Amino acid sequence: MGPASGRGRARMSPFCHARAVLLLLLAMAMVMAAEQGGEKSCDLVGDKDKESKTEKDLLKKLGPLMGARFHTDVVSGTENYTYEFRVCREVSSALAESGVVQTNGKTQKKTVIGRINETQIINGSDWILLIYKGGDSYGSHCLYEKRKALIMISCNRKARNDSFTMAWEERNKEQECFYLFEMDSSVACPPEDSHLSIGSILLITFSSVIAVYIVGGFLYQRLVVGAKGMEQFPHFAFWQDLGNLVADGCDFVCRSKPRNAPAAYRGVGDDQLALALPAPSQQGCSAQLHEAGAGSSLPAACLFLAAA
Ligand SMILES: *[C@@H]1O[C@H](CO)[C@@H](O)[C@H](O)[C@H]1NC(C)=O
Ligand SMILES: *[C@@H]1O[C@H](CO)[C@@H](O)[C@H](O)[C@H]1NC(C)=O
Ligand SMILES: *[C@@H]1O[C@H](CO)[C@@H](O)[C@H](O)[C@H]1NC(C)=O
Ligand SMILES: *[C@@H]1O[C@H](CO)[C@@H](O)[C@H](O)[C@H]1NC(C)=O
Repeated sequence: MGPASGRGRARMSPFCHARAVLLLLLAMAMVMAAEQGGEKSCDLVGDKDKESKTEKDLLKKLGPLMGARFHTDVVSGTENYTYEFRVCREVSSALAESGVVQTNGKTQKKTVIGRINETQIINGSDWILLIYKGGDSYGSHCLYEKRKALIMISCNRKARNDSFTMAWEERNKEQECFYLFEMDSSVACPPEDSHLSIGSILLITFSSVIAVYIVGGFLYQRLVVGAKGMEQFPHFAFWQDLGNLVADGCDFVCRSKPRNAPAAYRGVGDDQLALALPAPSQQGCSAQLHEAGAGSSLPAACLFLAAA
């Protein structure tokens, strides 16, 4: 029993793996389906494949606000109302497809102003107009037509989340009445053009290249070549030569009087000098540079002073 069943299990295991993988794939597919069909979102006018491409792009632009909830209180005369607004989600699952809901402060009666299954989106350079149609019908105004909410989203990069306000309600027309809301958001802003000029791009590239050169060269010298101390700098001898050349050039071009300073230093050994002066002066450096041959070990500060 024992050995036989053990061998059986061993033979079955590839099939078990296949089944496990299949189950996993099925579970993933179900999760994805649930995510797509689970929550209602803005439905644009037209069948799925005939929706406006621009409007679909705009829906993507609203992405960061998706599902956000806003509200505002409005007092008009003796009445007060609270308006709740959600971006492409139901304000309340009890009110089907509700995108903007008005609550009467006195009676707590809820009226759907606009529904997310009848969404329209329009944009300009720095604003997006979100329209929810198909709200509850007016009682006596506006020829009993369905209510409609217009939400004007203006570009504001520092928008606060409490900027949602009711701008105005038009209901003294025969038709095409609406509730107009306003809010600020950064999603309505045009894409920020980069302020980098060609010069700064070049500068950044150049300094990156230098940084990579120094770090990469340092690592190479240290890890591959096995250099120690100052020798870890990439092409150390070359830069030293260059530093000496520059120092000589400077000496030749800039100096107006013949130099007699080295005489004063000649008595002092270079080693003592380096000990006595932790941060060597320009004078000391040029003296040392003058005397030291190429490739000899100079204090690092001298090299940089000479190059500066
Ligand atoms: C709205 O009106 C009701 C009833 O009159 C009152 O209880 C409530 O405090 C009011 N709300 C606001 C925000 O004014
Ligand atoms: C939107 O949803 C409401 C409530 O479910 C429904 O009465 C209406 O017909 C829907 N509109 C469209 C265009 O499907
Ligand atoms: C509206 O948005 C689209 C997509 O983001 C954009 O390409 C277009 O330029 C915008 N329209 C205006 C008038 O800015
Ligand atoms: C707005 O933001 C503040 C703090 O960032 C938070 O406390 C508040 O709940 C937010 N309000 C809404 C309606 O999201």
